[in-house]
Amino acid sequence: MGQTLTLLGLESSCDDTAAAIVRQPDGAAAQILSSVVYGQTALHSAYGGVVPEIAARAHAEKLDICVREALETAQVALRDLDAIAVTAGPGLIGGVLSGVMCAKGLSAATGLPLIGVNHLAGHALTPRLTDGVAFPYLMLLVSGGHCQFLIVRRARDFTRLGGTIDDAPGEAFDKSARLLGLSQPGGPAIEVEARAGDPTRFAFPRPLLDRADCNLSFSGLKTALLRLRDKLVAEQGGLTRQDRADLCAGFQQAVADVLAAKTQRALAIYLAETPGTPTLAVAGGVAANRAIRNALETVCAENGTRFTAPPLALCTDNAAMIAYAGIELFRAGQVDDLDLVARPRWPLDQSSPAMLGSGKKGAKA
Ligand code: KG4
Ligand code: ZN
Repeated sequence: MGQTLTLLGLESSCDDTAAAIVRQPDGAAAQILSSVVYGQTALHSAYGGVVPEIAARAHAEKLDICVREALETAQVALRDLDAIAVTAGPGLIGGVLSGVMCAKGLSAATGLPLIGVNHLAGHALTPRLTDGVAFPYLMLLVSGGHCQFLIVRRARDFTRLGGTIDDAPGEAFDKSARLLGLSQPGGPAIEVEARAGDPTRFAFPRPLLDRADCNLSFSGLKTALLRLRDKLVAEQGGLTRQDRADLCAGFQQAVADVLAAKTQRALAIYLAETPGTPTLAVAGGVAANRAIRNALETVCAENGTRFTAPPLALCTDNAAMIAYAGIELFRAGQVDDLDLVARPRWPLDQSSPAMLGSGKKGAKA
């Protein structure tokens, strides 16, 4: 018989400092006893992006506060833990190092086992934490820094079917919002504008649909939006509210169409393996977009596949996913020692060829 496991998880790979306690009785659903996230948006907002040095310093300052808060909220003491899981990459190396050093310190002081977790595995395993999804399932990660299709077979066994060759979709939303003078993050701002817009007024491209693979490209959509904007400004001297809404609606529809079409291809590969309960799980901030969600739900319905998306707070960066991935890895026998290395790059599927882009913001997954 297995045992009940209680893990502390730490996350500091981009601009969120997070700690969480997750408990899982063997064979039963995992429970999140606490999940503390300190975002750094305000610290970076003046610079138009995450500044690695500022992020690393803020993580170092906040990690122990997060750990204390997570333990207190969960009413768990360090001696009640079975192990400590920490994001060991990929990400901004200063931040990853802050978390890894904090976890090593705790492990050395308590004697608790240390488990290094791939941040992307944390996202990819979240549907098991939130919905108990069975292996193998198809995962679409769509965030500000990442976009990829993965078949998740086991806690350490992922097959990457494809991903973006340039911008991540969230990055394209953010850059496009900037081009239209909308607030950041751009995704929610564009979604709101698009509600009043006509998605058919402007012709946006549908990049890479002529290629049979599961790779995607979003930077051309942003360029198309820039050209359309400049043309309107040259012709009319500016944009009307309706122009802006129509541009947003057209852009969003193009992203949704491309994601749906490539999901269809990824599903075909996955379904050929005849999984028991075919499931598509999406995670990442872009999964919050209603139009994109609807498009993906339609593809799933047409293919007899269950659609699932973790609640938003667990789709975006958090430490509960790291603690949970730690539980899965611990049960699979992984324990690291004090020479655990912090890695800026760490592909989930070591066998798949490295992509040129895979999200230029890179670090944020
Ligand atoms: O997963 P996340 O919180 O952070 C990253 O790991 O990147 O995703 C943030 C990204 C941002 O680019 C944001 O613009 C996008 O997700 N996003 C959205 C929406 N909400 C957030 N994109 C489209 N529609 C939304 N409603
Ligand atoms: Zn992430």
